[in-house]
Amino acid sequence: MSLHIGAQAGEIADKVLLPGDPLRAKYIAEHFLNGVSCYTEVRGMYGFTGFYEGKRVSVQGTGMGIPSIGIYIHELMAEYGVQTLIRVGTCGTFAPQLKLRDLLIASGSTHDSAVNANRFPNLSYSCVPDWQLLVRAIEQARKLSVPFQVGQVLTMDQFYDDHTDEKVKLVAKYGCMACDMETAELYTQAAGMGCHALSVMTVSDSLIDGSQVSAIERQTKFDDMVRLALEII
Ligand code: HPA
Repeated sequence: MSLHIGAQAGEIADKVLLPGDPLRAKYIAEHFLNGVSCYTEVRGMYGFTGFYEGKRVSVQGTGMGIPSIGIYIHELMAEYGVQTLIRVGTCGTFAPQLKLRDLLIASGSTHDSAVNANRFPNLSYSCVPDWQLLVRAIEQARKLSVPFQVGQVLTMDQFYDDHTDEKVKLVAKYGCMACDMETAELYTQAAGMGCHALSVMTVSDSLIDGSQVSAIERQTKFDDMVRLALEII
């Protein structure tokens, strides 16, 4: 039984969807899975296991930011034998071609993470997804006719960062499209554990003009993303 998840051995599937918001985990379990059981409520960070078209799948809230997702994915992989992890999150766009409501399938993550600076002294690690999941996600997005882009996300340690504008301007020149706060950690830890990971995100806000997706649209677009993730997992 792990410290933060606290599930019994065997209660978690080897494939897991990872929304940041634990209430989204509950929503996914209630609307997309059947035969569902809740394996954790510790700290309100819900986790459920159920079935999607006969496939056993779990869904675990991660919270926001690298330290939080880092704890949950570590325990999932190291203590429960999870092999495949797909983040279903949101991001803020700063690329003109990545529109509000689009899906970003993250082909890599550039970051300002103090965690990876400590993990790789004097090295800059490339945070990349499992290429087969990446290919399947692209195929599935085309099949579902979901508007999407494939590109790099900037994973930032701080949501409210005095230097956001400079950082965004710099990395946008090098092809980064949007920011989040989790993808770099997911890609790094999964690679280190020999596991398969992908981050897909709906664009919830724009750093270009400050616009945001309404709560209702967020829900519809979230459903499209979850369906895509469940199809490829
Ligand atoms: N910044 C960081 N993470 C995010 C954002 C953002 O603007 N939008 C959604 N997740």
